Amino acid sequence: MQATADLTMFFGRFHPLFIHLPIGLLVFAILMELLQFFKPRESFAKTISLVWLAAAISSIFSATAGYFLSLGGGYEESTLNLHKISGITLAVIATCCYLLTAFPLPFFIKVSRMIRTILILSISVLLILTGHWGGSLTHGSNYLMEFAPIAGSGSQKNQATHTKISGLDSADIFNDAVMPILQSKCVSCHNKEKKKGGLLLTSYEEILTGGKSREGVIPGNTATSEIFRRITLPKEHKEFMPSDGKIPLTESQIAILEFWIETGAHRNMTVANLKPNKKIENIFGDFFQLGRAAILSYSAKPASKKDLAALIQEGFQVFAINESNNLLEVKFIGPSATKPDLSVLESVKDQLVWLQLSNCGITDEDLKIIGNLPNLFKLNLNQNKITDKGIPAITGLNKLELLNLYGTAITDSSINSLQNLTSLKKLYVWETAVDTTRMETMSKSKKGLEIVYKLVP
Ligand code: HEC
Repeated sequence: MQATADLTMFFGRFHPLFIHLPIGLLVFAILMELLQFFKPRESFAKTISLVWLAAAISSIFSATAGYFLSLGGGYEESTLNLHKISGITLAVIATCCYLLTAFPLPFFIKVSRMIRTILILSISVLLILTGHWGGSLTHGSNYLMEFAPIAGSGSQKNQATHTKISGLDSADIFNDAVMPILQSKCVSCHNKEKKKGGLLLTSYEEILTGGKSREGVIPGNTATSEIFRRITLPKEHKEFMPSDGKIPLTESQIAILEFWIETGAHRNMTVANLKPNKKIENIFGDFFQLGRAAILSYSAKPASKKDLAALIQEGFQVFAINESNNLLEVKFIGPSATKPDLSVLESVKDQLVWLQLSNCGITDEDLKIIGNLPNLFKLNLNQNKITDKGIPAITGLNKLELLNLYGTAITDSSINSLQNLTSLKKLYVWETAVDTTRMETMSKSKKGLEIVYKLVP
């Protein structure tokens, strides 16, 4: 039984690879039909019929492989059904087209022609729809937003829980961190309907109990916890989870699960109670997006299409922070031959909350423009030729929470001016001329501001 299951999965995995062949052949057949329509040639008919035959066979093969792949589960049900139905219909219509070209109805040339035209039109529409649904299945309709800076590591649902949390003393390790991680990466295959490997991951008890072969989690012991073993295997390993090339856990997500298991896999316990060290604390801070509540509570009028086009024209990448508040992240990352013209940023200064200008030739002079972008929460200026002379120009950015100046030419004197940034929570100054021993005492004394002055914490 297992062997046949493996074989069908093996065959199924050819679907994403093989699918390009019928698409190409179908498009080719349609083009040839068009040509034949406008410039009919007797000798062409045989070739067209052959192309339809190849398109039909490859469509049937791809649809079958797709069907086997779908048996592996883990796909969003309603999209999968649409994709499946349209894919099978495509294979059927392609077959009909072949039959009609190879064996034309002898007495009804006109009718036969009409049927073919209709079929060809429907193939064109179905190709687009099937492709679109297939794309959402492999990438997910949330594909683009998943790695958006504010959307963080979870789906929309988890995002809501993230924003509720105001600090690590109110964050429950299992309910607010572990469960949302498993939900976003594992539950699609380990739920009441699917239950792959006999494993359910929808409640605390089920997670500990595990599947048919082993217990899921042994509190206090990552080495013997099957769930932890599966997520930390090499990605090519056949037991690696999530399986089937689904998006793996991020390093932070793995670190959170590791911390949870090692500290006893508690069901109800705040993160703060578990006394995380600085590194783990930061990981949780990022995970819960602490401090980002301020950004999320704020919104702006949408930027005009013209202004956005000007930014893109200048070589900036522009991202939406989320779907509703119109705020923007703008990125220009070097090294590049020409420095961007920063004056275009002026027109989106209401919307611009995160500006990334790493290693792209920014100078002290440019900081004057940046100092006039009052809504910046995050600013990355690392690896640029910035000195103490330029820094005072940005000390009026009173919303700024994160400032990255690593790899610049600043010294202690800049640190003094930066004290004026009252909202600042995180400052990166490693690989600069600042005095590290002084930073050490400062970061201890100044509560609320974390200064990262060397790479290894
Ligand atoms: C695409 C579907 C899919 C996803 C997503 C997925 N799994 Fe699985 N999982 C399977 C299948 C299929 C098996 C059974 C085959 C095997 O044991 O490798 C399995 C088995 C397991 C087992 C072994 C159960 C046992 O006792 O035999 C564990 C543990 C597991 N998965 C954990 C996870 C975790 C943790 C995640 C999320 C990071 C995850 N899985 C995501 C499909 C999936």
